[in-house]
Amino acid sequence: MAEIVILDSPNAAGELVAGAITDLLAARPDAVLGLATGSTPLPVYSALERRVRERDLDLSAVRGFALDEYVGLPEGHPESYRAVITRDVVEPLGLSPANVHVPRGSLEGIATAGDDYERAILAAGGIDLQLLGIGTVGHVGFNEPGSSLASLTRVKTLTAQTRRDNARFFASADDVPMHCITQGLGTILRARHVVLLAFGSGKAPAVAAAVEGPVSASHPGSVIQLHPHATVVLDEEAASELREVDYYRYVWENKPAWQRI
Ligand code: GLP
Repeated sequence: MAEIVILDSPNAAGELVAGAITDLLAARPDAVLGLATGSTPLPVYSALERRVRERDLDLSAVRGFALDEYVGLPEGHPESYRAVITRDVVEPLGLSPANVHVPRGSLEGIATAGDDYERAILAAGGIDLQLLGIGTVGHVGFNEPGSSLASLTRVKTLTAQTRRDNARFFASADDVPMHCITQGLGTILRARHVVLLAFGSGKAPAVAAAVEGPVSASHPGSVIQLHPHATVVLDEEAASELREVDYYRYVWENKPAWQRI
């Protein structure tokens, strides 16, 4: 089962996950990170940024693969995930732009962009640590309900709910692209360590279904139950619909000191 960690705040969660990433990079400065967009991973990036500043870490050798991208946005659109990853991750953390990959969402060449992305991940030796958020519909990356648990990077159609959820970044829900290109659930399962974060009561039903519900394509987040090394980091609100919450706390409180997430 995934390790479930319930902390007081998103900032505490950010510190914990940034610590795990720092340990990984100390062992392998050119480790491969799976990068997520959305508001959820921001505390991780902020905590990492502070560590870069305070400890003078050089992350220029780190390699990164974003989870997903909208299809058909004009090059340089500020809400393209390429632009978001550049703004939120590459620039503040001092990553080398050439080391950071985002699925190609331009219409030209879209038919082969998924296979190309899979090849690039394999050529990099696979993803060491994959950050994940979860959508209110239960999606991870942009794998909407119904996504194959074995899927690889490919084009998907966004649900109306996801387009509404993401309308806050655009002028209206109609301006949110209809299609996206996303790492598949099978791609995510190949990462060596998967870290899913969720904060706030709005995510509580999706978290409960992912962690304690049946493994099902109808709830893509439940794919973490198939992963041998998955960590779920939550605040109290996001954990509020979990049945076995006392056990998760008990496990965390009694975690052997030598064991990391
Ligand atoms: C977006 C992204 C996901 C993200 C999710 C939740 O649509 N494609 O990768 O995890 O929705 O977003 P947020 O973290 O802002 O709640």
